[in-house]
Amino acid sequence: MSELILIDKSLDKAKQYEQLLPQIKSLVKGESDLTANLANICAALKYGMDGFFWVGFYFVKGDELVLGPFQGPVACTRIKIQHGVCAATVKEKRTIIVDDVNTFAGHIACSSESKSEIVIPILKNGEVLGVLDVDSDSVAQFDKTDAKYLEELCLLVLELTGK
Ligand code: SME
Repeated sequence: MSELILIDKSLDKAKQYEQLLPQIKSLVKGESDLTANLANICAALKYGMDGFFWVGFYFVKGDELVLGPFQGPVACTRIKIQHGVCAATVKEKRTIIVDDVNTFAGHIACSSESKSEIVIPILKNGEVLGVLDVDSDSVAQFDKTDAKYLEELCLLVLELTGK
């Protein structure tokens, strides 16, 4: 297992993800512990990609989302599946991109520094097991390119959960 994530920052974002995803796959290959793998995925994303201020997982437990492995400032531990971007992602079963979190009604601000956000569902047969949440301290950080590659990553995460 290589412990170094190398990304050529002169490339466009899609190409950066194309460098990052195989390295993440190799990082988790051969390791069966879910917490260890999710923790390393968060670190690879936060320190691999520009503008990723907070990266983490929330998993559905009853009527709440409970915080999993993450990288970044301390975050909300439990979120009711009612309000906020993560809850909306669970309810709508689709990736949600928010260019300016101040314009999203019900947005839950775990950090005042978060300006934009993307949340991707981890889906198994139409059921949401959890979400990958990425916040940026810049507005409009995320677009369809992020959605495409982070959705691909969430397929890997589903495999890792063993569900
Ligand atoms: N902003 C999220 C809450 C999680 S933090 O961003 C880490 C939301 O509105 O659901």
